[in-house]
Amino acid sequence: MRHEDRITGTARGGARSERRRCRSRACPQGDVARGKAAFLRVGCYTCHGYEGQGVPGKKIAPNPLAYPAFANFVRTSPGEMPTFTPKVLPDQDLADIYAYLRSKPASPNPAMIPLLQEVGR
Ligand code: HEC
Repeated sequence: MRHEDRITGTARGGARSERRRCRSRACPQGDVARGKAAFLRVGCYTCHGYEGQGVPGKKIAPNPLAYPAFANFVRTSPGEMPTFTPKVLPDQDLADIYAYLRSKPASPNPAMIPLLQEVGR
């Protein structure tokens, strides 16, 4: 096991399979830095947190939905979330936001954090 794998445990495997999934045609090219700027500009952060972590709204990172479902939700949200039209949020900005959310590291596996293993000893 490589050192990195030991630190993040199985969460890393999840991130790896997500990366594989995103090489498909359904997944657009996006720019992380531009995505962060768009995430702030159109106000996603007000409901999803600066990291997409979901305080006070729903968690959307790490590991966002597959891109087709993600884009569809943002364009046509049936629920509480406002919809974002291409006029407010062009397709490339949406792809950039997706790249930004996908760039968030997966949460570490708690079983791999030594300090947490000491609780109750
Ligand atoms: C006014 C608050 C608000 C804003 C602004 C907002 N969202 Fe949401 N979002 C929500 C809420 C609440 C939900 C959960 C609602 C539901 O499931 O119907 C949600 C759900 C989602 C989901 C679905 C997550 C899932 O796993 O089902 C995605 C993706 C998402 N938001 C992306 C975005 C993006 C990208 C932006 C910016 C373009 C954004 N949201 C802006 C409130 C917001």
